[in-house]
Parts: sequence; structure tokens; C-alpha cells
Amino acid sequence: MDFSAWMDGLQKRTENSLDRLLPPAGVAPQRLHQAMRYAALGGGKRVRPLLCHAAGELSGADPDRLDIAAAAVELIHVYSLVHDDLPCMDDDVLRRGKPTCHVEFDEATAMLVGDALQALAFQLLAEHPLAGDAKRQLDMLRLLAQAAGSRGMAGGQAIDLAAVGQPLSLAELEFMHIHKTGALIRAAVLLGAACGESLPEAHLAGLDRYAKIAGLLFQVVDDILDSESDTATLGKTAGKDAAQNKPTYVSLLGLAQAKDKAAELRGAAHEALASFGDKSRRLGELTDFIVSRSF
Ligand code: IPE
Ligand code: IPE
Ligand code: MG
Ligand code: MG
Ligand code: MG
Repeated sequence: MDFSAWMDGLQKRTENSLDRLLPPAGVAPQRLHQAMRYAALGGGKRVRPLLCHAAGELSGADPDRLDIAAAAVELIHVYSLVHDDLPCMDDDVLRRGKPTCHVEFDEATAMLVGDALQALAFQLLAEHPLAGDAKRQLDMLRLLAQAAGSRGMAGGQAIDLAAVGQPLSLAELEFMHIHKTGALIRAAVLLGAACGESLPEAHLAGLDRYAKIAGLLFQVVDDILDSESDTATLGKTAGKDAAQNKPTYVSLLGLAQAKDKAAELRGAAHEALASFGDKSRRLGELTDFIVSRSF
């Protein structure tokens, strides 16, 4: 199967599993459930679920288990987008080609959507058997909690807000990106692998190296697209980073050097996968997609 057919199939599979795992819109409280479904369904590239499934190929993981881990990470991601778009954060009106959740519903509902999606993510990891034993499954829960919390995504978002208009060093910018975006990307990869057989230490270390590089790479490309692309292609407002004075790889290095950085990280990501051989083919292809994507 070629990469685009593989991706297409898994994007549909992710949509179906989220549809099944989210509360039905007709169940009370209906407005909250409608808003959760509005935010989570019918859009997005599903890169984190794709990474989760691709990493699962390294450990021979059961695809049904991977669906649950992938959905949990995607729900945290969607929650982060809903809150990121709120007026008190990036104040965005467009997401995935649709009005943002707080525009379509209201701010209080959008806050609760984030709260409820996050809780649902952990409920899924707690109620479905994903690893061989309870200890390994608890490790998975802890991994996602750390990736989402103040030492992960939420912490990165706090740094992002505090950094507006501040001249960050390259090291500080990297620290911010590794947290706000990298942490969840890393969790997607490691949780996918954790759904299968235990990997030897050396393989786990190589996969962790890959996952960290891919996470930083993802946000470097997001910065480039924000400055280079247009709103219709992105499905979210282009040029927001410059308009809001956000420090990014583009604002710090310029577009050409930001692209050099992306190329360098892409090479390093492939290197980190080298020891896995053909089993890491999908992860390698996904890495290239992360760089070449248009939105
Ligand atoms: C956008 O993520 C926000 C970042 C963490 C950079 P994606 O580019 O994965 O957004 P969707 O899920 O495809 O909409
Ligand atoms: C968002 O970074 C990272 C998140 C944790 C949501 P951005 O603010 O750059 O994401 P976009 O560009 O709005 O998707
Ligand atoms: Mg933001
Ligand atoms: Mg934003
Ligand atoms: Mg952005």
C-alpha cells in the first residue's frame, strides 16, 4: 500500500473511532456533547493518531488497541486547539476550515469542551486493556499525563503566552516548542509502541530520540506555514504569529534558515529510525509528510 492510501485509511479509521468513543450528541448535556463532537470530528490531519499507528508497527501492536491510544492523544490535542483559539490565548476565529469552537458555541462551552475532552482521553486509557499488564498500562497513563501537563503541553502554552513580544534565544524557543507541541507528538509515538510487545532498551531510546526530534520538527514547520501559507490552505488564520508578535523559528532565524532547520531535523529523525529497518517505513514516510505538508 502506498503512503497516501495508508494515511487515508487511517484518517477514516480515526474519524470512526472518535465518532464511536465520543458521547452521542443527543445525550445530555446535549450542547456540550455537540460542541465536543464539533471540535473533534470532521477535520484535522490526524498526525498524532498516524504516528501512534506507525509506531505500533515497531512492536507488532494490535490495531484495535492503537485506535484507543490514538484517540486519547487526539482528544488531548483537540482540547489544546480549542483552548489555544480562545480570546484569552491566540484569539482565533478559524480552525480546521470551520469557525472555532467558542465562535460556533460560546467561550464557556469551549472551556468545558477542553476539560471534558481531556477527561475522556484518560477515561479511555483507563477502561480499555492496552498493555499486557496493569503496571505497563499505568505507565501509559502517566506518560500521557506528563505530556499534557505543566511539564508538557500546558507548560509550553504558558511559556508561549509569556513570550509574546519577548526576544527569546534559540535555546528558549526550542524549549517552548518541545513542550507546547513536542510533548504530545512524543507521547503519540511512545504510546503506539507501548501497545505492543516490550521493545529492548536500546530500541526504546532510539524511538524516544526520534519522537523528540519529530515533535520539534512539527512546530518548526507550523511556524513556517503560518508565515508562508494562506488562510484558505491552512484552514486557520495565516500570519497570526507575526501579527501577535509571537517568537517563532521564522521570526528568530528568517524563513530560509527556518527551512534549513526543518531539513536538518528531518535528517536527524531519519537517522534515529535507521536501526529499525523496514518496520519504521511508515514513521519515515510520516516524517517526510510533516515537512512537505501544505497545512
Ligand atoms: C496544530 O496542530 C497545532 C500545533 C500543535 C502546531 P496540527 O497541525 O496537527 O492541527 P490539525 O490537527 O491537523 O488540525
Ligand atoms: C499551538 O501552537 C500548540 C498547541 C498546544 C495547541 P500554535 O498556536 O502555533 O498552533 P496553531 O498555529 O494555532 O494551530
Ligand atoms: Mg498558540
Ligand atoms: Mg494558535
Ligand atoms: Mg502556529
